[in-house]
Amino acid sequence: MGVGYSSCSLSLSLSYSHISCFASTTTTTTLLSSHKSTPNSSLNPPTSKFHYQKPTYTTMTAQSSSSPMFLPIQSGRVEEIKTQYHNSTKPVSDLHSLDLELIQRLVYDSLVWSSLHGLVVGDKNVQRSGTVPGVGMVHAPFALLPMSFPESQWRQACELAPIFNELVDRVSLDANFLQESLSRTKKADAFTSRLLDIHSKMLESGKKEEIRLGLHRSDYMLDEQTKLLLQIELNTISSSFPGLSCLVSELHRSILNQYKEHLGLDSRRIPGNTAVSQFAEALTKAWKEYNNPRAVVMVVVQPEERNMYDQHWLCSVLKERHDVTTIRKTLAEIEAQGVLLPDGTLLIGNQVIAVIYFRAGYAPIDYPSESEWRARELMEQSSAVKCPSISYHLTGTKKVQQELAKPNVLERFLENKEDIAKLRKCFAGLWSLDDSNTVKDAIERPEFYVMKPQREGGGNNIYGDDVRKTLLRLQVEGSEEDAAYILMQRIFPTIVPTFLMRDGICHKDHAISELGIYSAYLRNKENVIMNEQCGYLMRTKVSSSNEGGVAAGFAVLDSVYLT
Ligand SMILES: Nc1ncnc2c1ncn2[C@@H]1O[C@H](COP(=O)(O)OP(=O)(O)OP(=O)(O)O)[C@@H](O)[C@H]1O
Ligand SMILES: [Mg+2]
Repeated sequence: MGVGYSSCSLSLSLSYSHISCFASTTTTTTLLSSHKSTPNSSLNPPTSKFHYQKPTYTTMTAQSSSSPMFLPIQSGRVEEIKTQYHNSTKPVSDLHSLDLELIQRLVYDSLVWSSLHGLVVGDKNVQRSGTVPGVGMVHAPFALLPMSFPESQWRQACELAPIFNELVDRVSLDANFLQESLSRTKKADAFTSRLLDIHSKMLESGKKEEIRLGLHRSDYMLDEQTKLLLQIELNTISSSFPGLSCLVSELHRSILNQYKEHLGLDSRRIPGNTAVSQFAEALTKAWKEYNNPRAVVMVVVQPEERNMYDQHWLCSVLKERHDVTTIRKTLAEIEAQGVLLPDGTLLIGNQVIAVIYFRAGYAPIDYPSESEWRARELMEQSSAVKCPSISYHLTGTKKVQQELAKPNVLERFLENKEDIAKLRKCFAGLWSLDDSNTVKDAIERPEFYVMKPQREGGGNNIYGDDVRKTLLRLQVEGSEEDAAYILMQRIFPTIVPTFLMRDGICHKDHAISELGIYSAYLRNKENVIMNEQCGYLMRTKVSSSNEGGVAAGFAVLDSVYLT
């Protein structure tokens, strides 16, 4: 049986009820945060715009399926598809011909695989799922099949990783650059201001970070029109999903192997995802540099964390492969239990902390009182290796991203002209709100811009008509608030039909993807110990309109199928 798409929406032309398709209700959902997660955020959106088990399917007009982004699938019309696939560099989307029984088997087997292999998150419907491991687990949202991605742009993204690592390190050492770049933002944004205060204090006290560890993730989208790989942003704090993203790659490989005959896809085209093992390796190396065998790695966590299994995967590799012990502490606990010895040693209880790995502390919500800020400062003052240090954290702000994109700024930090050219090639348009021409254009054509505050964790950006309204309001008010934002060129990736799995239900929808490349950087004084690309995160989300500034639809974990 076939599955059809209309150009704007879709539903199944089937009389089968386990695969659900969209219904155009007005409810919106929060995007899956690929980066961080707050207790209220996004692994399980509060509402879904999809119907489940409603056998009211109508056949929609099939649209041409020659998207360059979607996988060729061999099923009903095997020969035809196979031929197209081998003769063309552009794979053919063929969800239309996927047999429903086959989809049903793929769905079932992938759900079993996820459950057996720990591709899980806390279920928002279960109260203790964010605090007690093993209580209320549900499979992480994932794409049923991997997303195709051109190999050349994949390589490009991988090659950029060590260059960005070096750039972050160098920018982090330029205290004046950080303070100056963020000086106007400081007046407009209380959170950034607090981070800058800690940074200033460390400067005044002459504190130097000799051992520097970065576990970053640089996110990209492939612009459909120009075919350019453009950077969305570089995350220097709490880059999440190194654990679960590896599992999704394994899941997809397993499914492709198991259904080789039916799908005709080669599992070897899914790049091995080494994020979790390399992040564990980097943490271990940092721990070794600290050079105290009894010391532990401390993971800074939110009080409730439904994405805890992603973190536990990393901690489990640390323990089992490297015999490094981790402890998990909230900022409030660190403030209550932390002691700083005169030599800078950080003790939590009676445990010496060698490395502090932040999976919290990136958003204002993480600092509900002064206690949490005291904890942050205590950690910064300590001799423990911070991942990230306050300087690395500030280097990852959106304002700094925009400053780095200005002419001749990269040259301040890097000598190699080829490296500079490679970075610049992936920069999208980025502007400060001082730029009156751009602001004018964004008011006239807001759909081509994204307005971003200095926030992490998703759901904070402004899109569409809200860009215009916000810019006009800021103009009228004439306050300093404009310095809290940057403007960015909106990137439009190719929209492709996809099967998205959430809560055990398979949804079919139009989607776009974002590729995140993890990287690790470790140095001790002049010695660069590690500077590597470390696997990837593919995230696929419903391509629904973002107008109105509300993030719509949902995202799932995905993997890359190289074409
Ligand atoms: N220029 C852009 N064009 C199109 N979409 C964008 C753009 N910038 C951001 N987005 C979308 O908004 C999402 C969030 O943006 P961004 O990564 O800048 O914010 P964040 O709060 O730091 O998110 P994260 O928690 O993923 O780090 C992206 O994952 C992407 O889907
Ligand atoms: Mg971010």
